[in-house]
Amino acid sequence: MGRLVVVSNRVAVPRELRAGGLAGAMQAALSQRGGLWFGWSGRIAAAPADAPRMETVGPITFALTDLTRADYEAYYLGYANRALWPLFHYQPNLVEFSRSNLEGYLRVNRRFAAQLAGLLRDDDTVWIHDYHLIPLAGELRALGIGARIGFFLHIPLPAVDLMAMLPGHRRLIESLADYDLVGLQTPADRHALCDYFERECGATPEDGGMRLRNGRSLRIEAFPISIDTALIARLAASGSTHAATRGLVASLQGRALAIGVDRLDYSKGLPERFDAFGRFLERHVERRRQISMMQIAPLTREDVPEYRELRERLERMAGATNGQYAEPDWVPIRYINRSFQQATLAGYYRVAQIGLVTPLRDGMNLVAKEFVAAQSADDPGVLVLSRFAGAANELSGALIVNPHDVDDTADAIEQALAMPLEERRARWRSMFDHLSRHDIAAWRDAFLAALEQSRR
Ligand code: UDP
Ligand code: G6P
Repeated sequence: MGRLVVVSNRVAVPRELRAGGLAGAMQAALSQRGGLWFGWSGRIAAAPADAPRMETVGPITFALTDLTRADYEAYYLGYANRALWPLFHYQPNLVEFSRSNLEGYLRVNRRFAAQLAGLLRDDDTVWIHDYHLIPLAGELRALGIGARIGFFLHIPLPAVDLMAMLPGHRRLIESLADYDLVGLQTPADRHALCDYFERECGATPEDGGMRLRNGRSLRIEAFPISIDTALIARLAASGSTHAATRGLVASLQGRALAIGVDRLDYSKGLPERFDAFGRFLERHVERRRQISMMQIAPLTREDVPEYRELRERLERMAGATNGQYAEPDWVPIRYINRSFQQATLAGYYRVAQIGLVTPLRDGMNLVAKEFVAAQSADDPGVLVLSRFAGAANELSGALIVNPHDVDDTADAIEQALAMPLEERRARWRSMFDHLSRHDIAAWRDAFLAALEQSRR
């Protein structure tokens, strides 16, 4: 296979720290194999640049392009994050659709294609990521690019009736047919996409994908994304002795720790989680003072009003629970809005007794996998995991909860705290073994092998 060219809106820009599963995963996927990584620099510029800014760090060459203010607002904030993101996460009530945002989305995809086309060679393999860039293959084909092009969607693919609420949905989804291979996180996402093609576009199922009405075949497969399991395990083992982790442990004064790590996003179920922890304290008087919850929630998409409202709501909720239950030497909820390095997080996971991962919807949720990878085999913590995270398909050793059911999550916190060591070990071992086999390298290789076999 020739050079690998990865394209995503968000790029792990060298020397910048930012939370987010896609960029972290692709950094891990590219770090051994190398390649070109094209995407947004994260900057706003007065005018679109003619060509991306190039920078090589180790095996990865970054090609970074700026967005204008108008593009940032229409493409990133507007269409990607106020129409596609809420709809694909089953929150149609939060969708704000406008034609001018859609035009901005298409315009940026066209511009990305024009810039990328100038960098491509005939034997490149192009791998495009996520909901920001669905029409990109069509734009590249229109410019005469004949390379193999694959697409991977990191977020859920909603059921056809939900998708149909989006104005212009058919044009958007049909543009996936310009790819040689479409990858989704779970078999349920794959089913939803096949169902869409069948019901809305008159396609028929065939082995490995769909036969479209024009006679062409589209390959559609599930490839559950993963983590660098061995690296996280190593970081956690060494991180547990670092100053940051020791400081955290000392501050707990022997109490248990329940940890949550999520971008401050409404898909993550944070108000429900805070409620569940409050319900747990209300019902288990004997557990008060025995456990603290630490919620790390870096700010994200702060220019979108729904995210600002969520932030205010969580501040009120954390304040109310702490006001009700805190003692001079104990605070129930530690609530932190900054990002941490993965090495620091790995150390924190390692010393936590409970990992709380309770999204209302999530494509995969890599934090769930990282929490498992970071545990010690001798004395592992327990993962409390939403059934609506893609990771729940694989991590059956977790305590699976319905995040909408506050009592269910509160019960799971108690069950986790009371769980005997033997049961914790058995549950953890099955998950860790799975993640050792199905790590980020296996994910990348499986996708690229399938792409290599696919031909339009
Ligand atoms: N993350 C991080 N620093 C933080 C918070 C999160 O590096 O302060 C990372 C975390 O380790 C994980 C990713 O951000 O790899 C989040 O991925 P996930 O799939 O859980 O959710 P997403 O943010 O992509 O929706
Ligand atoms: C999710 C999306 C990614 C996105 C990340 C962070 O993981 O699937 O595409 O990069 O969230 O969000 P942001 O808007 O900061 O890129």
